[in-house]
Amino acid sequence: MSDLLYFPPSLQRFEPKRMVFSTWVDHLPFAYDLVEAIRPKTVVELGVYNGLSFFTFCQAMVENDIDGVAYAVDCWEGDEHTDAYDDSIFKDVQSHAREHYRGISYLMKMYFHEALQHFEDDSIDLLHIDGLHTYEAVKEDFETWYPKVKPGGIVLFHDVMARIKDFGAWRFFEELEASQQDIFKFNHGFGLGVLRKPGGADPDAALLKLLFSREEENVQKLRQLYVHASHFLEARRQARRFKELAGAKNKGGQGKQAGAQ
Ligand SMILES: C[S@@+](CC[C@H](N)C(=O)[O-])C[C@H]1O[C@@H](n2cnc3c(N)ncnc32)[C@H](O)[C@@H]1O
Repeated sequence: MSDLLYFPPSLQRFEPKRMVFSTWVDHLPFAYDLVEAIRPKTVVELGVYNGLSFFTFCQAMVENDIDGVAYAVDCWEGDEHTDAYDDSIFKDVQSHAREHYRGISYLMKMYFHEALQHFEDDSIDLLHIDGLHTYEAVKEDFETWYPKVKPGGIVLFHDVMARIKDFGAWRFFEELEASQQDIFKFNHGFGLGVLRKPGGADPDAALLKLLFSREEENVQKLRQLYVHASHFLEARRQARRFKELAGAKNKGGQGKQAGAQ
């Protein structure tokens, strides 16, 4: 990061409002910083499940005064990798969206191919592809949705390091790495791929310059930075939980004493 100074906003002020189980957890600080850097007008997520990644995008938009809209596309039925789940997941996402992100978040309960018609070509600033993770599904999601992304827009791919079962996001992303100029891969948290569609104005946000500098030193340091950022977030969360538990225990103790008097 030689001559570029970068102090990620996530380290300064990010406290996740939504914390549910998901393998996405290690990428929350980066997601927050990316949204702050690109200030998207239109965000689309393909594959939402319980909303961990989606609501991080939403939170970053609100806390950084970004005037945009985030669309969450999912059939909310599950797939071969998540397994089928019941409607309680959708209801929970819906109530969180209503409570915290009314007016900036739209839930599109449908299949990805059905949602396509609702978006113009070259209209999406940030697209997150996180549906079924077979090679064929990721390739299809990318090829059908890429025309909808603005020149200079960003596409994220989750699980590009997961080489389990019939997961194939890693193989599709490797093919992109061989052909694309502005591309970056985080290895931690099952891998997160970041691709910038060619065109648009030259990015001036420091994070984007670092991501696509193609300098080995920057690549290594960015990867380390976000491994540490995710550990830092988790450590802070545990410390807070510990404090809450200790507080509850102390109150319980005082209550007993008071009752004995
Ligand atoms: C890996 S989960 C998404 C994880 C989520 N981004 C997170 O933060 O934890 C994949 C989701 O994609 C949905 N899905 C997979 N293929 C789909 C398709 N073709 N159309 C609509 N939803 C789909 C599933 O219902 C599932 O909820």
